[in-house]
Amino acid sequence: MYNLLKGKRGIIFGALDENSIAWKTAERVHEEGGVFVLTNAPVAMRMGTIDQLAEKTGSVVIPADATNVEDLEKLVLQAMDILGGKIDFVLHSIGMSVNVRKGNHYTDMNYDFTTKGWDVSALSFHKVLQVLYKKDAMNEWGSIVALTYMAAQRVFPNYNDMADNKAYLESIARSFGYFFGKEKKVRVNTISQSPTPTTAGQGVKGFDGFIAFSDKMSPLGNATALECADYTVAMFSDLTRKVTLQNLYNDGGFSNTGVSQEVVDAFEK
Ligand code: NAI
Repeated sequence: MYNLLKGKRGIIFGALDENSIAWKTAERVHEEGGVFVLTNAPVAMRMGTIDQLAEKTGSVVIPADATNVEDLEKLVLQAMDILGGKIDFVLHSIGMSVNVRKGNHYTDMNYDFTTKGWDVSALSFHKVLQVLYKKDAMNEWGSIVALTYMAAQRVFPNYNDMADNKAYLESIARSFGYFFGKEKKVRVNTISQSPTPTTAGQGVKGFDGFIAFSDKMSPLGNATALECADYTVAMFSDLTRKVTLQNLYNDGGFSNTGVSQEVVDAFEK
């Protein structure tokens, strides 16, 4: 370990269980010397095992629904209080589509579900950023990361309305990142991660085929949750101070590969 985050304070959203990308990130940040508050939706506290992670990393858990601005305001103020100063890093690792959960096809959406999923998966990022901005809660040269998927750029039929939510999320990172950079010297980026076997990931229909295909298409193979955590640590560290407004692929090369030999071979008679 390199002590890359020594003396840095943060907030980590979205650790549900040990498969969660946010869980692995919290463990890696802890190893690199960062301190943080963990947060998740109140309902997820009952379903998941976040308390074990808190114990392991010496962190406090503060429940907050990321769609609720009041919850976010309380979270940010409490986090600064507990951690003893302004925030250096934030991970937004939140996603949920009600249409996916209910099995509604993209061509047969329930728009109340669409709106709810958009609020949780995309607009919540704006809400997090706006609360941090208005409360002047970020230290200069701080770093904010949200997680996304390449369905924002290309068609993956089973990704459903999460594709649209991710496109919106990535746009927020650029638009808000401009103001955060100008006014507060804070960087805002999204990391576009390979398919990963987590609760949210496995909600995608046909996930097993999807993740295997992606692995065969990627020259380096799929990036794991731990590898995503490593990349996020790098983005939180002082080694990436001028990287901002970017959508950063952590996908083993998938996004720039037209076809791989393994995939061609699978179609040869
Ligand atoms: P996960 O299911 O472990 O994490 C999703 C989290 O969102 C959960 O902790 C859940 O409680 C939280 N959440 C849902 N509604 C919330 C709300 N109202 N307020 C606060 N938190 C809420 O799954 P995973 O895969 O770790 O997901 C993390 C992020 O990574 C998501 O943005 C996901 O879209 C993204 N991602 C996942 C990929 C995958 O294949 N698993 C690939 C690329 C991106």
